[in-house]
Amino acid sequence: MVKNMALRHLTKVTDFTRAECEQIIDYAIQMKADRWNPKYTSKLKNRTLLMLFAKPSLRTRVSFETGMEQLGGHAIFYSVKDSPLGVKETIEDTTKCASRYVDMIAARVFKREEIQKIAANAGVPVINMLDDFAHPCQILCDFQTIKEKKGTFDGLKLSFYGDCRNNVTYDLMRMCAMFGMKMDVVCPSDPEYAPEQEVIDECKEISKDTGAVVRVVHDVMEGAHDADIIYADSWMSYGIPKEEEEKRVKDLMPYQVNSKVMEAAKPDCIFMNCLPAKRGYEETAEVIDGPQSIVFDQAENRLHVQKAIILFLLNLMN
Ligand code: CP
Ligand code: NVA
Repeated sequence: MVKNMALRHLTKVTDFTRAECEQIIDYAIQMKADRWNPKYTSKLKNRTLLMLFAKPSLRTRVSFETGMEQLGGHAIFYSVKDSPLGVKETIEDTTKCASRYVDMIAARVFKREEIQKIAANAGVPVINMLDDFAHPCQILCDFQTIKEKKGTFDGLKLSFYGDCRNNVTYDLMRMCAMFGMKMDVVCPSDPEYAPEQEVIDECKEISKDTGAVVRVVHDVMEGAHDADIIYADSWMSYGIPKEEEEKRVKDLMPYQVNSKVMEAAKPDCIFMNCLPAKRGYEETAEVIDGPQSIVFDQAENRLHVQKAIILFLLNLMN
């Protein structure tokens, strides 16, 4: 396939500009309010999305499949364990073949190098559905939800608690940097749970222009001070061996989001978690099932924002 020079991919949130992210978020909000309007429901007629999964999923798989259906298109679920990808066949060959059949490729893989290889060899747009470096669909959905709940991004502080050597943390850091926000990354000082220097440097560079302040802090209450959004993610991300659970729970328990942490934040602070969640671990049941939690509104928005991402990448937004 001849490579289209205008081809765009979404491997991490900073593949888009702030203006493009806002355009996608606003379009998602508009479609959410009017999702059965015929101007949307046949936009993807005869279009197909291939979804390659090397890790489990509920939200990502179901929201992408449903989103394609609602736009009049079709999604193929393909488990990597059923494919020759990377074992009997190179990632390059799999990607080149798939590009001859489908209009887009989405992939959930283990390593950032894998998504980069897919993007470098695809003749169609590629969407990262999570790797070890980014989870851009989740974070665009999170920012749609923040816009709906807070009405603005200006002056907001987001504090992320727990395991911060983490795909979700990284794209939240990049997005807060791009949007000129404050973010506290609240984790133990052990490097096992701290963000990689590469991501800290990326955010420093972006913040020079936007005035964002993205900090790593180890004091739980300092992180909560003045927070508008408190965010937690699993301590056992997909692929972390079960044998590590006991140690991780012991190390990360001081960083659990509980009612004390929520009380130290602003009174109208919201609680977010990309899910799946484990009550009693990264947050207490009282917090995730309490009045400040917006986790199911957040989960719903995966559907709406991903529809907008697909239309944006296929140049079909208007
Ligand atoms: N938040 C998220 O990506 O969920 P799944 O792992 O269920 O897709
Ligand atoms: N950090 C988590 C996110 C799950 C959506 C993981 O990688 O499993």
